Amino acid sequence: MRILVTGGAGFIGSEYVRRALVAGPDAQQAPWITVLDALTYSGVEANLAPVAGHPRCTFVRGDICDPDVVDQVMAGQDAVVHFAAESHVDRSITGADPFVRTNVLGTQVLLDAAVRHRVGRFVHVSTDEVYGSIGEGAWTEQAPLAPTSPYSASKAGSDLLALACHRTHGLDVVVTRCTNNYGPYQFPEKVIPLFVTRLMEGEKVPLYGDGRNRRDWLHVSDHCRAIDLVLHGGRAGEVYHIGGGTELSNRELTALLLDAFGAGWDRVEHVADRKGHDLRYALDDSKIREELGYAPEVAFADGLAATVDWYRDNRWWWQPLREAARLR
Ligand SMILES: NC(=O)c1ccc[n+]([C@@H]2O[C@H](COP(=O)([O-])OP(=O)(O)OC[C@H]3O[C@@H](n4cnc5c(N)ncnc54)[C@H](O)[C@@H]3O)[C@@H](O)[C@H]2O)c1
Repeated sequence: MRILVTGGAGFIGSEYVRRALVAGPDAQQAPWITVLDALTYSGVEANLAPVAGHPRCTFVRGDICDPDVVDQVMAGQDAVVHFAAESHVDRSITGADPFVRTNVLGTQVLLDAAVRHRVGRFVHVSTDEVYGSIGEGAWTEQAPLAPTSPYSASKAGSDLLALACHRTHGLDVVVTRCTNNYGPYQFPEKVIPLFVTRLMEGEKVPLYGDGRNRRDWLHVSDHCRAIDLVLHGGRAGEVYHIGGGTELSNRELTALLLDAFGAGWDRVEHVADRKGHDLRYALDDSKIREELGYAPEVAFADGLAATVDWYRDNRWWWQPLREAARLR
């Protein structure tokens, strides 16, 4: 199978590529992967170092908004797994333009090319944030979209374009919506690596508002396994939720991370809440569990400990990124 992986040098996309090519059970069964990635601030070539030179992996540096590049890389693909996006909510609040450009326009460029080249399957990777906040219970795939940040609004727009492409042009599109991911190679602006790297540097960690905001956490390897299940077994035109099953308030998460470093609450700096900060996200993922046999495998305590260890062991990876992005 030939798969175009967009955003394959980012956090989740690179896990997907490494998993497919390095951790796969049988090298002969491994797909042929073309990574298309613009290497924006969050795309890191070193994320793909474990598969550099792999005979089944080709890396193309290019923008998903560029129809010529997209047309070239789309030719001959059996499937697309579309991760490329601007992904950080805080950045979308200070400047929404790149979010609209990449997430909305870029997705449409990919969809158009996929239709033209008669690609067999297009997996559009999306987020629980498109539904907005939920007080109790969990959103099902039928819930109305009510995004509240420029990031989530641009992702919701791209979800709708992808599903419309299925209806209008018959492209075999499947949309996945996932909860918060954590794991190795996550850019150090996101909460877990931000807190871990700050604690390692002896700095304080910034906790938004009163820390009551709740998120459901999923290890990135479970997310990528779920995407593969959807790629191979999902029904065209459908949305599948991918949940983690570990819901924590930001305060609870902070306590776990402080514990991991033997640090106290004096290391926490309470900062003004994020504008429009959604209180709680939660997904009902019974559809993917029942239809495709998905269940997360990594227990949160184990995954978090392994992630902390990874950042401890890989300072070479995060320190330059942190400095370049002025996260200090
Ligand atoms: N991180 C999460 O918790 C989470 C949860 C649910 C869904 N998602 C979705 O998963 C996908 C991947 O998220 P991530 O956390 O790995 O993000 P990331 O920011 O780590 O990676 C994004 C990648 O896309 C690339 N990219 C950005 N703009 C591009 C463009 N115009 N052309 C080509 N490449 C471009 C970047 O260089 C980077 O490699 C996103 O679509 C995101 O919405 C993420």
